[in-house]
Amino acid sequence: MQHANVGVIGGGTMGNGIAHVMALSGRSVTLVDVKSEFLDRAKKGIEGNLARQVKKGLSEADAAATLSRIKFTTELTELRDATLVVEAIIENAELKRDLFRKLDAITAPAAVLASNTSSISITKIASATKRADKVIGMHFMNPVPLMKLVEIIRGNDTSDATVAETVAVVKDLQKIPVEANDFPGFVANRILMPLINEAAFALMEGVATKEAIDEIMKLGMNHPMGPLALADFIGLDVCLSIMEVLQHGFGDPRFRPCPLIRKLVDAGHLGKKTGRGFYTYEARA
Ligand code: NAI
Repeated sequence: MQHANVGVIGGGTMGNGIAHVMALSGRSVTLVDVKSEFLDRAKKGIEGNLARQVKKGLSEADAAATLSRIKFTTELTELRDATLVVEAIIENAELKRDLFRKLDAITAPAAVLASNTSSISITKIASATKRADKVIGMHFMNPVPLMKLVEIIRGNDTSDATVAETVAVVKDLQKIPVEANDFPGFVANRILMPLINEAAFALMEGVATKEAIDEIMKLGMNHPMGPLALADFIGLDVCLSIMEVLQHGFGDPRFRPCPLIRKLVDAGHLGKKTGRGFYTYEARA
């Protein structure tokens, strides 16, 4: 198996899902977060998602084996033997660059360093390392265990070999890789985020209620979720960061973040993960 020893950094919404699918494919996974309480939460999330898969036909033994293949740690140096590392920390370019600088020192020179960033330049992250040819975007969709697409982003200096290896891993996870070039927001979020942002403007301007906006987009466009519910699901902090990357990257006012999203983020209402965003939810366990 290619890349049998994988590191995942950040055990939040995306990282726990990435660790889950990597382990389910038979790989040994080391999941790193900054605090053990975040790792406990990630483990609970994975256990819950595996239990759901058991109801759909995964054997209890395979679920237990999957969990046993994941090591939870706060020590970044535990990634020294990983041949593929997928970073899924918060959407902040400087934090990601700092982390990639450290990973460059910790991991073997041949290791592939991937970022699950939604929008930040892979080229910019890669230039923090001495192996820009081995840095790539591996953009999983939320929720990771269910969603088939992985957007593969080629930075300015990403090699063909790195793309081929990453594509092979994605296929091995039973997912579908689609390649894009490195421009702000790549494809998925360049198109999705302005839609969500415009829905927030429509709500702020009193065009319709949040329920009506979501219902119109669901029924009218055949979307499985309305844009405001989807924003809560993604995380309003993540949405705001992506809009800021688009605004900065294109220098075009059409990408200005809606002040209502910013206000909710300032209030700490980040969506489903904090129990409140545009809508109110049961608090996350
Ligand atoms: P999140 O806020 O749920 O989780 C981030 C995790 O990273 C937290 O557990 C945090 O403690 C940890 N972390 C922060 N700094 C760290 C560091 N230096 N070392 C180790 N752990 C660290 O965020 P989420 O939503 O999982 O997003 C992660 C990345 O995935 C972001 O780049 C985001 O843009 C991207 N993404 C998010 C999607 C979504 O629907 N939420 C979809 C696809 C990509």
